[in-house]
Amino acid sequence: MTENSAKTEYDPRPIGVFDSGFGEASTLRNMLRLLPDERFIYFGDNANAPYGDRPEEQILALSEAAADMLLHRGVKALVVACNTATSASIKALRRKLAVPVVSVEPAIKPACEAGGDGIVLMLATAATVKLARYRALRARMPDPDRVKDVGCSGLVELIERGLIDYDSVAPVLAQKLAPYEGAKVDGIVLGCTHYPFIAPAVKRWAEAHFTGPCRIYDGNEGTARQLARVLVQNGLSAPGRGSGERVTFLTSGDEKTARPIFEMLLEVPVYEFR
Ligand code: DGL
Repeated sequence: MTENSAKTEYDPRPIGVFDSGFGEASTLRNMLRLLPDERFIYFGDNANAPYGDRPEEQILALSEAAADMLLHRGVKALVVACNTATSASIKALRRKLAVPVVSVEPAIKPACEAGGDGIVLMLATAATVKLARYRALRARMPDPDRVKDVGCSGLVELIERGLIDYDSVAPVLAQKLAPYEGAKVDGIVLGCTHYPFIAPAVKRWAEAHFTGPCRIYDGNEGTARQLARVLVQNGLSAPGRGSGERVTFLTSGDEKTARPIFEMLLEVPVYEFR
């Protein structure tokens, strides 16, 4: 095998992933499982979280800064592992960046397609449910009125502190979901990448206060699959070179506080931390 052909078969550069904070750890968990040969540089903008209560222009500026920083570190593709940042910035990032950009999307489609005559609750940040990208996605559903949007300010702040247990999050759930007390709920969409960490608490709360199956959906599996497709289509895969050193973690926040929370949420040790 010549040196040149080896180059076309293996692209060793890492994949960049960013979120306002620890949410991307939920996306990363799926990507690590599906793409065992890839390395990732993860940037959590913990100092600026939550994004979800900020105006659109600020979310766009923060997302562009995060993407630029990862591009300077030589990533071969970028994953915007944040529903809020996707809503505010994905078009601009795709226009501007020379590498493929993969985004997350709230999983309302599978939730709506699963059928039923109850409602579908879409839990996300205040910004995501307001912004045009999500409004357009919702309008494409066969029965958009069945989807009830719930902006859940307050949850990300808890998850950023590593507080994911039932007793920590139940008061916020009670406040946000009170209007639907007793409703028949077919599905609950976790439309923020932070929320899969509190899925057990959401399920427990929902089963105590709603009727119906309350099936939980998140978009992370779909994002990991889309990334796998994009890597293959662009000749960017790194087959057969799996290694234990797979995640480099960068944070704009306090490293000493962030590292143990990140590793607890991701459930794997990070390779490097700075
Ligand atoms: N994890 C992010 C999302 O998916 C946003 C959290 C935040 O408000 O910063 O929307």
